[in-house]
Amino acid sequence: MSILSKDISKAVALLNAEEIVAIPTETVYGLAGNIYSEKAITSIFETKQRPFFNPLIVHIPSVDNLGEIVDYIPEKAKLLAETFWPGPLTLVLKKKNTIPLLITAGKDTVAVRVPNHPTTLKLLRQLDFPLAAPSANPFSSISPTTAEHVETYFKDKIKMVLDGGACASGIESTIVGFENDEPIIYRLGSTAIEDIEVIVGKIEIKNSKEIAPDAPGMLERHYAPKTKTLLTDNIINVVNEHMDKRIGVITYRSKIENANIKEQVVLSKSGDLAESASKLYDALHQLDKMQLDIIIAEKFPDFGLGKSINDRLLRATK
Ligand code: TXA
Ligand code: MG
Repeated sequence: MSILSKDISKAVALLNAEEIVAIPTETVYGLAGNIYSEKAITSIFETKQRPFFNPLIVHIPSVDNLGEIVDYIPEKAKLLAETFWPGPLTLVLKKKNTIPLLITAGKDTVAVRVPNHPTTLKLLRQLDFPLAAPSANPFSSISPTTAEHVETYFKDKIKMVLDGGACASGIESTIVGFENDEPIIYRLGSTAIEDIEVIVGKIEIKNSKEIAPDAPGMLERHYAPKTKTLLTDNIINVVNEHMDKRIGVITYRSKIENANIKEQVVLSKSGDLAESASKLYDALHQLDKMQLDIIIAEKFPDFGLGKSINDRLLRATK
């Protein structure tokens, strides 16, 4: 029997019983549990085979709930929350004592966001506790952007995927931490860095070597298909160099004419970066199922969401 369901009250019942449920968000599907239930949180880590040193994101229904999670909110964090929530921005702030260390991997900070998905907002409002939810994929594999992606990964391991359709943004939230009250990007994501800079001024990105394992989303190999993947700004040449292989191709806006290409996904014919981001993981899931020798992806323009797409594609190649 399928574990997909649109029944919010069923999800409420399972979560109240300390079970885990996969939930839709605007970015990717999450594997959710009660932040105060040791049983549920342990089960999230075990199901994902995620190392316990990798902390989880707490999902709350409204900015008004932030005070229940964190002790101190710098001025710029307040501005960012008011501007972007509900939405794909996660803030890392000083945690309240009541937030279990299992969630934060022993750290005194906690990652928190208000997701922008009508089903999950309704669900959160019906619960007496926030939900911890990492992306609903086995550790380091491609994140799920449809309920079916989650079902393929976990159909024998979880009881329910709350089906909210395909994720509109399609790449994980942008993570912002604070040092001396100043914001720093810990992970590029679905909120473009330029949009954040409009609100808080120039912002630094901490590169993967500095931040891992604080944010394993920044680990070099992550979001990765099983098929060998390459990222290039000269796709025609790289395709020509692999003529004897079964090739899959991901491009931004134009199709490549080459008889050797077995499967090709153009992410946005009209050149829309947001559309490309929303389709990226589904393209990787699709190509990864096709027994290809290699997936060759074209580098995106290095601004706005193009920067976040390049970040994910680069990690997929490691
Ligand atoms: O869009 C998203 O953020 C999705 C949806 C489900 O909300 N969630 C997601 O979770 O991407 P996950 O667990 O795959 O990635 C969370 C990232 C991890 O890289 C983790 O290390 C980082 O957030 N993180 C969590 N708490 C942190 C903390 N206290 N300090 C630094 N990084 C933290
Ligand atoms: Mg993840």
